[in-house]
Amino acid sequence: MIARDTDGRGTGMRGMMARWAGRAAAAWLCLGAAHAQTPPIEAPSVEARIEALLARMTLEEKAGQLNLISNEPLNDPGAIRRGEVGAVINFSNAGLAAEADGLARASRLGIPLLVGLDIVHGYRTIFPLPLALAASFDPGLVRRASAAMARESAATGINWTFAPMADVARDLRWGRVVEGLGEDPWLTGRLTAAQVEGFRDGGLASTLKHFAGYGAVLGGRDYDATYVAATELHDLHLPPFRAGIRAGTDAVMTALTALNGVPTTADAGLMTGLLRRQMGFSGLVVADWQAVGSLVKHGVARDGAEATRKALAAGVDMDMTSGLYLRHLPEEVRAGRIPESAVDAAVRRVLRLKFGLGLFERPLVDPAAAEGRLLLPETRRIAREAARASLVLLQNREDVLPIDPRRVRRIALIGPFADAAWDQVGPHEGNGQPHDTVTILTGLRERAAASGVEVTFAEGCPRVCTDRAGFAAAVAAARGADLVVAVMGEPRDRSGEGSSSAYLNWPGLQHDLLAAVSDAGKPVALVVFGGRPTELGAAPERAHAMLMAWIPGTEGGPAIAETLFGDVSPSGKLPVSWPRTVGQMPLTYDALPGGRPHLPGSRWTMGYADESPLPLFPFGHGLSYTRFAYGEPEVLTPKGGDGDAAVLEVRAPVTNIGPRPGRAVAQLYLGQPVAARSRPKRLLKGAVLLDLASGETAYAHFRIPARELGYHEPDGTLVVEPGEYRVGFGGDSAGTRTVSFTVETGWRGPPGGDQAQR
Ligand code: NOJ
Repeated sequence: MIARDTDGRGTGMRGMMARWAGRAAAAWLCLGAAHAQTPPIEAPSVEARIEALLARMTLEEKAGQLNLISNEPLNDPGAIRRGEVGAVINFSNAGLAAEADGLARASRLGIPLLVGLDIVHGYRTIFPLPLALAASFDPGLVRRASAAMARESAATGINWTFAPMADVARDLRWGRVVEGLGEDPWLTGRLTAAQVEGFRDGGLASTLKHFAGYGAVLGGRDYDATYVAATELHDLHLPPFRAGIRAGTDAVMTALTALNGVPTTADAGLMTGLLRRQMGFSGLVVADWQAVGSLVKHGVARDGAEATRKALAAGVDMDMTSGLYLRHLPEEVRAGRIPESAVDAAVRRVLRLKFGLGLFERPLVDPAAAEGRLLLPETRRIAREAARASLVLLQNREDVLPIDPRRVRRIALIGPFADAAWDQVGPHEGNGQPHDTVTILTGLRERAAASGVEVTFAEGCPRVCTDRAGFAAAVAAARGADLVVAVMGEPRDRSGEGSSSAYLNWPGLQHDLLAAVSDAGKPVALVVFGGRPTELGAAPERAHAMLMAWIPGTEGGPAIAETLFGDVSPSGKLPVSWPRTVGQMPLTYDALPGGRPHLPGSRWTMGYADESPLPLFPFGHGLSYTRFAYGEPEVLTPKGGDGDAAVLEVRAPVTNIGPRPGRAVAQLYLGQPVAARSRPKRLLKGAVLLDLASGETAYAHFRIPARELGYHEPDGTLVVEPGEYRVGFGGDSAGTRTVSFTVETGWRGPPGGDQAQR
């Protein structure tokens, strides 16, 4: 009864390098074919070309390949021309990229540049932020969106993105939750892999970041220390990195933080022992921004030379913007403090990536042609599709949504984020421009006009909402309307890097504005704007419907308008638990049961004296304009043994019992009620999207590698115990139908099912 996993999804790093290498070799053969008179010349292998280059390089040129600069040094074009630069970041237009790359190609050895940028949610066409994309629970869509972002970026000469962020985000105070894919390691892993694949489809090398544990910053404070127990590291933080490596990522970035007291950029056990030896990563390791230099600030290096020695010895190949590798490596090698072989190994990895991407054969990007490849209708179409799929309907009392034009003839659109083009672009904007953005106001006006519905816009208060001068006009608009659409929440600069916050509330007087317009007595549909969940206060009582819009990007306006009007039914699901208050942080669905599990009203059980410990909306929650009934799951392969080759197969029915078509996101959770150590009651291990007509039933099929049943011991050993397990099935993490099954034979294996490399 044991099914074998035959889908062979992950190809591993070796397969990946072979694919890139194949692309480069094909380009060589094409060049050969142009002179077809002579017998075909066999192209030297990539490795032979790397060795040939390495043999010709001076120590300074080797250090140059390991040196990544930001745009300022174009003031000193000579540095690139002298071969002192291997990669650049923030050359965010085609003209600059072409100029810099041209200088590198004119250097003595003519080695092209890696041109990098943080393509987090788009270059010029802005997609929803990754956390919002995660709400789609749809790896196929995430892959297509990533490919579209990559194609647009590649058109401008960018060939490397510093994404995806595979850090599991457990605390909404951490501004960077918006860059990641939520609180759950399985979902983050699936979507991280999809991003890696999509970036590659679109022509960009990818970077998993930040290795490791960055998502555990104390108090959600960016850059603060992280303390992660070994078991938690393996169970929670590493799975998304494993998934990204299996998907063939090209690079891994260190974290700016110290993990258990050791800055990751100087941690040989982490960057080499764990990442390379145990997890089998063979690509490029890049330091985060000035992370090599920051080893002095962390207090683990006396000066730049020592920082250089420590970072290289830890396994960091490339120095991002410290300039220390360039400054110190040649001298350190000559003095015998760093073996030249270590420098050569790092340079090989840089060159392998450049050959793999085909950079030596690619012509310089043509800045004149680049502009015409931005904001293409197809790219905008995918951005709109992604924005739609990210919307989460949190509540819908009295079925206020979708808007029925027979009943709603006039809409009052209110709130500081209804016409907020720059906020829609978000905090990691690439080269996004507010004037390209279709705001909610524009989108709603257009969609409403198509149904003959009138829209009156009264902002109520500006973005920071510090005065009530506009309240009266907003209330008047509400009185004269059949429905109020209020767009409230937080601006773009309340999330992203360096924007952690101690509060999760809405800035200014927005709740007062909501109270004032809801007192007008008309139904209110609240569109919640912002990168992450925020405290909603009395909003759930004030508003009949609440739609989480996140930061929706260039096409956010039409996507929201179409959804409000019911052209599509919302299908997004929360990739994070939605808290009642910031004081609940961190709050995740996969907490351990504890010896005194929470009982409402019972003082001596886990929780707070002044607030429920439960979320306002659970992980995985999201309504639709229709309703779904989730049936009992059936476990088809109940035995489980046979090591990592085994697959657990489960199927379960879903019926659309509502009046409209809709998409169900059927979720499967696993639990082990009794184990050698206390385990979360449920862990997400599968999600299937089913598009169902009214009255239709379909089965969700899950094939889950047996390793997903296990947990890790402190040394990283994966343990799948024999005994009882539970499968939960449903539309969110809180309300699942559960059945038990038994694993007869347990097994132990390498971490995460990795094949040990040495
Ligand atoms: C610092 C951030 O931590 C990292 O994620 C990013 O890629 C670099 N800056 C470059 O922008």
